[in-house]
Amino acid sequence: MDHDFVVRKARISDVKAMHAMLLDNPEEEGLVLPRSFNKLYTLLRDFFVVVEKNSGELAGCCALSICWEELAEVRSLVVRNTFRGRGLGRRLVDACLSEAVTLELYKVFVLTNTPEFFAHLGFREVPKDVLPQKVWSDCLNCPKFPDCDEIAMMLRL
Ligand SMILES: CC(C)(COP(=O)(O)OP(=O)(O)OC[C@H]1O[C@@H](n2cnc3c(N)ncnc32)[C@H](O)[C@@H]1OP(=O)(O)O)[C@@H](O)C(=O)NCCC(=O)NCCS
Repeated sequence: MDHDFVVRKARISDVKAMHAMLLDNPEEEGLVLPRSFNKLYTLLRDFFVVVEKNSGELAGCCALSICWEELAEVRSLVVRNTFRGRGLGRRLVDACLSEAVTLELYKVFVLTNTPEFFAHLGFREVPKDVLPQKVWSDCLNCPKFPDCDEIAMMLRL
C-alpha cells in the first residue's frame, strides 16, 4: 500500500476539489456524472476521498449510496490522472465496501463504462433488470439519458 496517501470520509472543505474532479474531463467524457455543489453538499456523507498526506491535495473520491435493503451503489469514482495506477481507485472502492459491510449491505453494484477495472476488483456483470426501479431515478439527470451505454456490475459481500 502507498503510505503517502490516506483514505478518509469527505469533509465540507473537500467539496470544491471534488466538484472539479467530477466535472467532465474532455478526454474521458461521460465516465463520471458531474455533480452540482447542491448534490455534493447534500450527499457529502456518502463520500470518501483519498488525500496525499504531504500536500493535503485530493487525489480522488468515491461514494457509497444506499439504495434498498441489502443493496448499495458505488458512484462518482474518480482518481485524478496524475495519481492513477497507484492503487488509489482500489482503496477508495475498498473503503466503500467495508462501509457497506458495517451497514449490513451485502450487495453492491455499479453502473460503469470502465467494467475492466471493476471486474479486476471482483464485480461481475449483471442484467440491468435485476436492479430495482428506484436506481433509475437519477438517470433522468444524466446528459446521456435515455441512451445509456453503462454496464451494470454487482459484487456480493
Ligand atoms: C478507473 C479509475 C478510478 C482507476 O483508478 P486507479 O487508481 O488508477 O486504479 P488502481 O491503481 O487502484 O487499480 C487497481 C487495479 O485495477 C487495475 N486497473 C486500473 N484501471 C483499470 C482499467 N481501466 N482496466 C482494467 N484494469 C484496471 C490496475 O491494474 C490494478 O490492478 P492490480 O491491483 O492487479 O495491480 C481511474 O482510472 C479513473 O478515475 N478513471 C476515470 C473515471 C472512471 O472511469 N470512473 C469509474 C466510473 S464508475
